[in-house]
Amino acid sequence: MRKINVGSRVTPYPMPVTLVGTLVGDKVNFMAVAWINRLNNTPPIWGAGINKNHLTAKGILEQKAFSINFPTVDMIEKTDFCGLNSGNKVDKSGVFDIFFGELKNAPMIRECPLTIECKLHDTMDLGTNLLVLGEVVAAYTENQYLSDGKIDIKKVNPAVLTMPDNRYWTVGDYLAKAWGVGKKLMQ
Ligand SMILES: Cc1cc2nc3c(=O)[nH]c(=O)nc-3n(C[C@H](O)[C@H](O)[C@H](O)COP(=O)(O)O)c2cc1C
Repeated sequence: MRKINVGSRVTPYPMPVTLVGTLVGDKVNFMAVAWINRLNNTPPIWGAGINKNHLTAKGILEQKAFSINFPTVDMIEKTDFCGLNSGNKVDKSGVFDIFFGELKNAPMIRECPLTIECKLHDTMDLGTNLLVLGEVVAAYTENQYLSDGKIDIKKVNPAVLTMPDNRYWTVGDYLAKAWGVGKKLMQ
């Protein structure tokens, strides 16, 4: 089959839909972030690509701390709102119910099934975006989202994103055991 070059601006599919929480001064702010993932085992470090003009970048550099919150599909409108509006112009501090964990400057969202508080590990200027590396201090969930003590994606019901068609999706069906199904091919 002939391959088509679709250019260099492709993204993984799907991507997580998260809300990164910061304090800017004493104002709570949340921004929708999809370019984010865990990048290191020990210590557990996550990386996010944050546009340098976003208020979130200012908050992270100022506080040296931030949170990563995973919304459910029911929260998609509020999440999108936080991606459509900058805290530079719109006060987003009242959109969610807030709580704090060990860090007193990384606001987290109470209604999210998984929230993670991070202290800033390092940053790298990539061009438009700042690569923000955060070391996880603690992560919070609730019993209702666990099966056998592990976060259960079906119970969490997260939204995922595809670009450049800019569409939110729910997750599909269980496929196979990771670090397992491939054993069939081992002799
Ligand atoms: C679903 C979604 C995902 C987004 N992901 C990112 C991202 O990974 N990095 C980024 O810099 N902007 C991303 N944005 C754009 C910001 O969320 C948006 O510009 C926001 O208004 C910035 O808020 P702030 O200025 O209050 O920090 C995303 C927007 C949406 C709707």
